[in-house]
Amino acid sequence: MQPDETPRARHVAIIMDGNGRWAKRRHLPRAIGHQRGVEAVRELVRSLNETSIECLTLYAFSSENWKRPEDEVGDLMNLMRKFVKSDLPEFIANGVKLHILGNWRGLAPDIVEMLEDALERTAGGSRTLAVALNYGSQQEIARAAAKAAAEGEVTTDTIAAHLDTAELPPLDLLIRTSGEVRLSNFLLWQSAYAEMMFVDTLWPDFTPGHLKQALEDFSGRERRYGGR
Ligand code: FPP
Repeated sequence: MQPDETPRARHVAIIMDGNGRWAKRRHLPRAIGHQRGVEAVRELVRSLNETSIECLTLYAFSSENWKRPEDEVGDLMNLMRKFVKSDLPEFIANGVKLHILGNWRGLAPDIVEMLEDALERTAGGSRTLAVALNYGSQQEIARAAAKAAAEGEVTTDTIAAHLDTAELPPLDLLIRTSGEVRLSNFLLWQSAYAEMMFVDTLWPDFTPGHLKQALEDFSGRERRYGGR
């Protein structure tokens, strides 16, 4: 393979799993695990400029996460509020453009307002941080198919054009941390030809170094998209 043919991952998505186990192993409350999870997110976003990644998509809150105890849901929402508030200036300074996937307009009104403002203020950025919030992939596909049907023909192209990822590059690599091997209703359509990596590291321990290793492993994979 010529060096210029080395596959580079433009769009990477991560299922950030293992915050609870990270905390449990240290006899700490789950909330601390989530807090450390946010710190891992922050470091990763800071490292994007050193990678090939144009878009990093993170599964922050699924449509199924509402089933968690009310105080844990509250902790996650508060972390989201704090994260956007504290890191927005850094996103703007570093050219990070925010994108949101899922039914995020169904979140608390103050969060919706804060996200709308953040989307507007980061619109000029060159690298995308896409956050899946109140997201379920089956729901996203159903919504997109309904919109496609309302407009005319339903094809793979017209469905894809209505997915929450329509503006993002095709998904190259999907990573799940914490040793679990399932997709949990995340980017099912978009994963059709994505490479997948399941790593044992718990999310709060996942560093920019782990991401760089994953990108290196990705560049060694041969992608055939059904051809041979
Ligand atoms: C999975 O760990 C993680 C989540 C359900 C939430 C992920 C959220 C964050 C990392 C923080 C918020 C993100 C942003 C972008 C501000 P788990 O609780 O399922 O862990 P366990 O499987 O070990 O119990």
